[in-house]
Amino acid sequence: MQKLQTQDPDIYNLIQKEVARQSQGLEMIPSENHTSQAVLDALGSRLTDKYSEGYPGMRYYGGCEHADAVENLARDRAKELFGCSFANVQPHSGCPANIAVYVALLKPGDTLMGLKLFHGGHMTHGLKVNFSGVFFNSVQYGCNEEGFIDLDEMRRLAHEHKPKLIVTGGSAYARTYEWAKYKEIADEVGAFLLADMSHVAGLVAGGVHPSPIGIADVVTTTTHKTLRGPRGAMILANGNPSTPLQSVEHTKENIPTLIDRAIIPGIQGGPHNHQTAAIAVALKEAMQPEFKIYARQIVTNAKILADELMSRGYNLVTGGTETHLMLINLGNKDITGKQAESALGKAGITVNKNTVPHDPRKPFDPSGIRLGTPALTTRGMKEDEMKRIAGFIDRALGNIDNEDELTKIHIEVTEMCESFPLPN
Ligand SMILES: Cc1ncc(COP(=O)(O)O)c(C=O)c1O
Repeated sequence: MQKLQTQDPDIYNLIQKEVARQSQGLEMIPSENHTSQAVLDALGSRLTDKYSEGYPGMRYYGGCEHADAVENLARDRAKELFGCSFANVQPHSGCPANIAVYVALLKPGDTLMGLKLFHGGHMTHGLKVNFSGVFFNSVQYGCNEEGFIDLDEMRRLAHEHKPKLIVTGGSAYARTYEWAKYKEIADEVGAFLLADMSHVAGLVAGGVHPSPIGIADVVTTTTHKTLRGPRGAMILANGNPSTPLQSVEHTKENIPTLIDRAIIPGIQGGPHNHQTAAIAVALKEAMQPEFKIYARQIVTNAKILADELMSRGYNLVTGGTETHLMLINLGNKDITGKQAESALGKAGITVNKNTVPHDPRKPFDPSGIRLGTPALTTRGMKEDEMKRIAGFIDRALGNIDNEDELTKIHIEVTEMCESFPLPN
């Protein structure tokens, strides 16, 4: 970073401040993580200079031989890691990956069905103000009173509305996704099934969450959450894309071809080769035996943290967690999600306010907070630290208006963090 420091100290200093913020505090937003230095090295490489619209061996630009090799490596590693025969590693991020699937499989106005954002889904799963709810007829299923995905409602709505695509997965669901049950419902109504495993991809890779591969017709995932890669995404399926000029029907057999065409020329231009390289690096890391240990520890840490918080009277949606995240309904504590996010932030604990299923409050000041353990686990924190962190959280939430106490907690958090540096 020497060049940056001398040439543009403004940006350099801001980056240093962000590094300090991350290393001196606890990143508990469950969609965040800390990548390795190797991933950062690939991201900061000359590959960013190169245009390579198209796919390996079929580019619209010259000089793509190394970009081809990088993309082939990323695709091969994705296929090997997740056990599938097709991977598109070009989506610039999770939202474009989902857009590409809709462009591939649906026509404007077709019906898609996804989990409500305010029950733990993602906005690209059919929120009315998102493209997925604007350009398609969106039907939304939800969670039951306990906070579990309501399969009866999913089935009833599927039979009533006959969606062409059912979207599963989500952003704030603490329980195991039951891919096979969702597939049963999709099959009953002849719908395609999309599993958006963005949140749990690292857990799937590490063998601690069931894989949707071989069940769902198509799988999307971001690469920067539990998978611990750079910001980016992938689309996975089974089958092989056909030759470029052949026209294809919207059938399950043609999904790989439809996906490749949806990415380019459908919605994107040049792939981000530096990002593809960094994804390849992260995928190699995820194939190592240590990654399985890491994935298991994420879930163990989440469970310990959840148990500790529940023993202090916190009300967890669904009564616990089986994944990397938990959703706390603060209604019984007389605190709002916004107040909690702010107080915890002052204590050096970064979380996000979140609606809980059937939330009586509004999304900008909801009843809950969402927190998770992937980034803490990457730093090497284990059961003992989770118990301490539960104590910090409880103290901070008991002192939301006590600035001195929140500052004291931040100092203790920073002291603890010194033993757990960011990866280098
Ligand atoms: C389930 C799910 N899908 C898609 C996305 C979108 O990813 P991105 O923010 O990279 O566009 C997210 C991000 O939070 C997500 O949680």
